[in-house]
Amino acid sequence: MRVLVLGGGGREHAIGWRLKKDYKEGEFFFAPGNAGTEKIGINLSINPEDPYEVASICAELKIDFIFVGPENPLAKGVVDILTEEGRLCFGPTKKGAMLESSKVFAKKIMEEAQIPTAKFSIYSIDDFKTGKLKTDKLTPPVVIKASGLCAGKGTFVCKTKEQIDEAIRRIFVEREFGDEGNQIVVEEFLDGKEISYFALCVKNQFKTIGFAKDYKRLLDGDEGPNTGGMGSYSPVEYGDEKLREKVENKIIKPLMKKLTEKEIEFTGILYAGLMIGKDGEPYVLEFNTRLGDPEAQVILPLIKNNFFEVILKALSEEKIEDIKMENHALCVVMSSEGYPSKYKKGTEINIKNEEGENFIIFHAGTKRENSKLISSGGRVLNIVGIGKSKDEARKIAYDIIEREISFPNSHFRKDIGL
Ligand code: AMP
Ligand code: GLY
Repeated sequence: MRVLVLGGGGREHAIGWRLKKDYKEGEFFFAPGNAGTEKIGINLSINPEDPYEVASICAELKIDFIFVGPENPLAKGVVDILTEEGRLCFGPTKKGAMLESSKVFAKKIMEEAQIPTAKFSIYSIDDFKTGKLKTDKLTPPVVIKASGLCAGKGTFVCKTKEQIDEAIRRIFVEREFGDEGNQIVVEEFLDGKEISYFALCVKNQFKTIGFAKDYKRLLDGDEGPNTGGMGSYSPVEYGDEKLREKVENKIIKPLMKKLTEKEIEFTGILYAGLMIGKDGEPYVLEFNTRLGDPEAQVILPLIKNNFFEVILKALSEEKIEDIKMENHALCVVMSSEGYPSKYKKGTEINIKNEEGENFIIFHAGTKRENSKLISSGGRVLNIVGIGKSKDEARKIAYDIIEREISFPNSHFRKDIGL
């Protein structure tokens, strides 16, 4: 079988690594991939966000199976087009991907299905222009979210009136997110502990994979600006059986039922960003329709089943095997100097061993030039330790940074897992 993984980050290296581990005979391709995926298969320099370019390369290379990593190709309908052409895909159609690509759509579904989430109102740019949206009537703290895909930058947690004004100005006046900011969701601020939940879904059936925790801020102690994610670990202390049951019964089952009523078929990974409130109940902050990055890097190595086989079987028989997890994994992200603002590229990196019995280094923004490994993005390497406990996994990950990697002027958090 010929397999194409769409995307080029640490998540996609982890996906390719996992699928290859489960299916050694497979021929693997990545678009665009990175210097890590090059060791598993062939990198294709096409635009993964152009469904027609993807469809055409799939036809040319006779690709049998496509795993879509990031949200943008999904929102552009890559799965719809590939499926029409008779190719097997793992990822939702454009309609299913709206759970992530439209926060307005996701909130309305949650309301209809009575899924616990923050109370909210929806406003459009016209409401702003005509004065129907009265920002002075909004009392902080509130959370203001551009409805569309904004690469994780469209959410503003506003603790003061000034921050409310700034969020509205950036979305509706400066149009920082273009049309993705044509509508906003204004939400009640929820206090509690965050956790990421992942399920494998095929045609509105699902099986829980597990929970992970990610670290969004740049600096230790959750200080500094938001990033794509500076680290993660799985399993999570409070992501226990009890929470799993609550999430399945109060969130995922009602969601799947509602999607079925609306004749929307969801296949792929469903990722719920949750807040565990003071009452111990899970509230949905957002749905994503793909694996998280860097959550994939800690979830995928822990799956005990043959993950590739589980997906293929589920797609053909429409029955999903129970997914079992073992051990603990912790990921530390190494980023370029300056990230998430303007960052430096082209730094030479040396890695002694990329994988051992209890660790894996997943590449993100890397490329090879004249046989040298160099940085080519903001988030560059993901160092994953695997152990019998979180502490062991943590110790391994930080030891590997010391022992195996030379990456001058890089940045990483020292407090992942603490
Ligand atoms: P989102 O884009 O919806 O995932 O939100 C990004 C981050 O903003 C989340 O990980 C939370 O830390 C925070 N956040 C989003 N919604 C809320 C809310 N209603 N209450 C408190 N924090 C929130
Ligand atoms: N780690 C957060 C995300 O992938 O959206």
